[in-house]
Amino acid sequence: MSDDPIAKFKEAQRQGWKHFAPLEGLTTPSAARLVKFANVRAGQNVLDVGCGTGVVAITAARIGARVHGVDLTPELLERARENASVANVKIDFREGDAEALRFDDATFDVVLSQFGHMFAPRPDVAISEMLRVLKPGGSIAFATWPPELLIGSSFKLVSSYMPPPPPGVSPPPQWGDVATVRERLGSAAKDILFDRACMLFPALSVQNYRDHLERTAGPMLKLVEMLSASDPARLAQFRREYDALIAPYFEDNVVRQDYLLTRAIKV
Ligand SMILES: C[S@@+](CC[C@H](N)C(=O)[O-])C[C@H]1O[C@@H](n2cnc3c(N)ncnc32)[C@H](O)[C@@H]1O
Repeated sequence: MSDDPIAKFKEAQRQGWKHFAPLEGLTTPSAARLVKFANVRAGQNVLDVGCGTGVVAITAARIGARVHGVDLTPELLERARENASVANVKIDFREGDAEALRFDDATFDVVLSQFGHMFAPRPDVAISEMLRVLKPGGSIAFATWPPELLIGSSFKLVSSYMPPPPPGVSPPPQWGDVATVRERLGSAAKDILFDRACMLFPALSVQNYRDHLERTAGPMLKLVEMLSASDPARLAQFRREYDALIAPYFEDNVVRQDYLLTRAIKV
């Protein structure tokens, strides 16, 4: 394996995300929301970055778009291919990195990412790649977790228990901050539009919710793996803090996960 700290970081992410497939039922409704928000139309060339099991890509393909999906994690791409085959749509799913998209400049009419590109460690690299492969006049649209709400705060708590990431790695929820998104899109984009939406996560208790995430969500999974082996008391402390964080968002057997939607046109 490479000695480059960023490459090692991505390899750890690839390992962390490989158990994400059971959460696809949750990201399926929000995929429809994103595809509608982006105004995807039949015949358009669409790229789904960090496509996971293909929920956004397949939704766009069902409308009649020509879709490519890129993700770091081969296990999720395998599931994405199965999902596409069941839905009877043709999609080019390939292993790849949001920071090094293997497509020519100005290939796509629409570039989408649902909770995907926000995990690329260097936001400036990821956004310049996503804009590079987009045609001038094309749309970029993504869903991201705001730092001040449940998922953003959870990431902050999880990272406070982890060893620090290599220099140059930005916290993913920065992508959920409107001012930061504007700054990152910069002068390369116009007509920036924001919206907010809510993903409801059914759960029997806050502990039940946490248990789901410990088995499926990359950053949580890595932390629990590490602390189970090295420091069970610290793991218990983490779980107490995490449960307290979730409690205000848990009501009527659902956990409310609000998120930010961004859409813009490439200049
Ligand atoms: C929270 S999942 C979202 C998956 C899918 N978009 C969905 O909404 O169900 C995050 C995804 O980002 C992918 N990912 C993380 N870093 C990436 C990178 N640098 N390039 C491409 N994909 C990446 C992970 O493998 C994972 O599939």
